[in-house]
Amino acid sequence: MSVPREIRTDRLLLRRWVQSDRASFAELNADARVMEHFPSVLTRTESDAAVDRIEAHFERHGFGLWAVEVPDRAPFIGFVGLAVPSFDAHFTPCVEVGWRLAVDRWGRGYATEAARAALAIGFGPLALEEIVSMTVPDNHRSRRVMKRLGMTRDPADDFVHPSQQDHRRHVLYRLQATDFNASHRPA
Ligand SMILES: CC(C)(COP(=O)(O)OP(=O)(O)OC[C@H]1O[C@@H](n2cnc3c(N)ncnc32)[C@H](O)[C@@H]1OP(=O)(O)O)[C@@H](O)C(=O)NCCC(=O)NCCS
Repeated sequence: MSVPREIRTDRLLLRRWVQSDRASFAELNADARVMEHFPSVLTRTESDAAVDRIEAHFERHGFGLWAVEVPDRAPFIGFVGLAVPSFDAHFTPCVEVGWRLAVDRWGRGYATEAARAALAIGFGPLALEEIVSMTVPDNHRSRRVMKRLGMTRDPADDFVHPSQQDHRRHVLYRLQATDFNASHRPA
């Protein structure tokens, strides 16, 4: 089974990035509310560099952080998808599920809906045994998404992020293929 180029959910389309996404993504990355739990907001140059890294990840791995669209309503609302972390930690190598949406799209269940579709790719065509997710302890919105997805945290997995920009403590959530597949078996 191969990874589909586009993924459709009830309300969303997850797709590869197009040039016009870059301006909207830069706007989102310049919003202090979106970036509250990151080391800083991003400049246009930093935001474009992030898209370049996302594209390179798709080329290398065949999957990545998909651009999310609300068909007929919003051409780009952020990203949701799967990524291989580029740093070393006690739980790497691994695949993580991640999300970042524009503030005016929060509170509608879009992140959880898109992430379930991404997990189905990870545990389906990619045949992963485990997918993780990580954030700082205060990012309760993101942690709620992780819990809604059935991910669980063992405090023994907490870690200090090793990237140069971000040495803060992070919490790690894990989800096993067996648990995801058991809860998504067709009735
Ligand atoms: C993390 C983030 C994606 C979460 O977004 P979110 O909108 O809270 O999460 P969801 O899309 O799953 O939506 C769930 C909320 O929508 C509500 N909702 C409304 N309509 C809904 C529907 N039709 N279906 C499901 N949920 C719905 C739910 O009740 C829930 O609200 P609650 O958390 O207040 O109980 C968002 O806050 C974000 O982009 N943050 C900035 C980037 C970031 O921190 N990323 C994570 C780094 S690790």
